[in-house]
Amino acid sequence: MKILNVVGARPNFMKIAPIMEHMKTSAHLTPVLLHTGQHYDQNMNDVFFDQLGIPRPDIELGVGSGGQAWQVAETIRKFDPVLETESPDAILVVGDVNATVACALAASYRKIPVIHVEAGLRSFDWSMPEEINRVVTDRLSDLLFVTEPSGRENLLKEGTSPEKIQFAGNVMVDTLLKHRENAAHTSRILDQLQLQPGGYAVMTLHRPTNVDQKKVFAGILKAVHQLSKQLKIVFTVHPRTRGRIDEFGLEESVKSLILLEPQPYLDMVQLMSQAQLVLTDSGGIQEETTVLGVPCLTLRENTERPVTLDEGTNTLVGTSPEAILREAEHIIKTGGKQGRCPELWDGRAAERIVRFLEQWQPR
Ligand code: UD1
Repeated sequence: MKILNVVGARPNFMKIAPIMEHMKTSAHLTPVLLHTGQHYDQNMNDVFFDQLGIPRPDIELGVGSGGQAWQVAETIRKFDPVLETESPDAILVVGDVNATVACALAASYRKIPVIHVEAGLRSFDWSMPEEINRVVTDRLSDLLFVTEPSGRENLLKEGTSPEKIQFAGNVMVDTLLKHRENAAHTSRILDQLQLQPGGYAVMTLHRPTNVDQKKVFAGILKAVHQLSKQLKIVFTVHPRTRGRIDEFGLEESVKSLILLEPQPYLDMVQLMSQAQLVLTDSGGIQEETTVLGVPCLTLRENTERPVTLDEGTNTLVGTSPEAILREAEHIIKTGGKQGRCPELWDGRAAERIVRFLEQWQPR
C-alpha cells in the first residue's frame, strides 16, 4: 500500500519521524514524504530533518507564509496535481496545522482515504485556527489514531463510527524518548547560557491570541519580568512573536529575559528537561513536559490535551499577570506537580500505527 505522508510545519516533524522510520522497514507499505513548505526557515525546518533523521521529502510544494485561508487554498491548489500523479492508496496527516487540513480536503475531493494521527483533540475554542483544522480533518478522515482517552470520547460524541478510531499512543513521545538521552549527552546549551540544572525557566509563546494583541502580550511579559527577578528565564522566540515584539515596541519588557532564536530539537529538549518550570502556549510542549516530569504552566484558557492536566505536570493559568506570577511562585516554593506518564506514551506509538496499517483495508 502506497501512503503519502504529509508534513508542513515544525510540530509535524517530530510526529512524522517515527512513522517514516517504521514505514520504511515495512514489507507492506510504500511511504512517500511530502512537505507543503508552511515552515521553511533553517531553524524552523532543516535542523529538525537533520537531527531527527527524517528523509528529505520526495515532494516539496513550497507554499510559504500567508494568511490562514490563503495558505490552505495555496496548499490545496499545489497538492491536488500531486495526488493525480502519485495516486496514493491513502494519505496520512498529523496534528492540526494548515497543511493537515488542506491536504485532507484535497484528498477527500479525490476520494483518497485520509489517515489522521493525533485525532480527536478538542479545545472547544473556535477562535483557534487549530481547532477548525482538527474538527474538519477528523470529519474527513477514514482512520483516526488518538493519543489519549479524550480523543476517542470527543470523536464518538461527534458521531465518528467506533471502528474508525484506534488508540495508538503519542508519536511525538516516541521521538522524545528516543532522543532524550542523546540530547543530554550532546547538547551544550546549558553551558553556553551558563545555566544550572533546575535554576531557570523556559518560555515559548506564539498563539495569535497571546501575541497578536498588545494588551495580552504586554501583560504576560509584565508577569514574566517580575518572575525573572527570582529565576532566570530563557525565552525561545518564534518568528511571529519576534515580529510582534518589534511592532508593539516591547523590547524593554523582554530585556531581563534570555532571548533565543527557535532552538534545534535536541537543545530544546535539553533546555526543557533541566528547567525548574516551563511556561508555554504550545500544544506539544504541554505533552513533552508531562513526559519529562517538568511542571508546565499553560498560558491559555483551555487545552485540547486534558490528560496532561489530569495525569501530567500541566496547569492551565490563562493570561492574567497575577495568576501567572502566583502559579510560577507556587512551583518555585513547592516543586509543582509531579504527574505520571499517560497510558501508551511509551515510545511505541508509531510501531502500533504501522502494524495496524499493514493489515488495514482502505475503503
Ligand atoms: C503554526 C501552526 C501552529 C503551530 C506552529 C508551530 C497553523 C494554523 N498553526 O503556527 O499550530 O503550533 O506552527 O510553530 O498551522 N515564519 C517564518 N519562518 C518560517 C515559518 C513562518 O518566519 O519558517 C513566520 C512568517 O512570518 C509567518 C509566521 O511566522 O507569517 C507564522 O507562521 P505560520 O505557519 O503562519 O503559523 P505559526 O504561527 O508558525
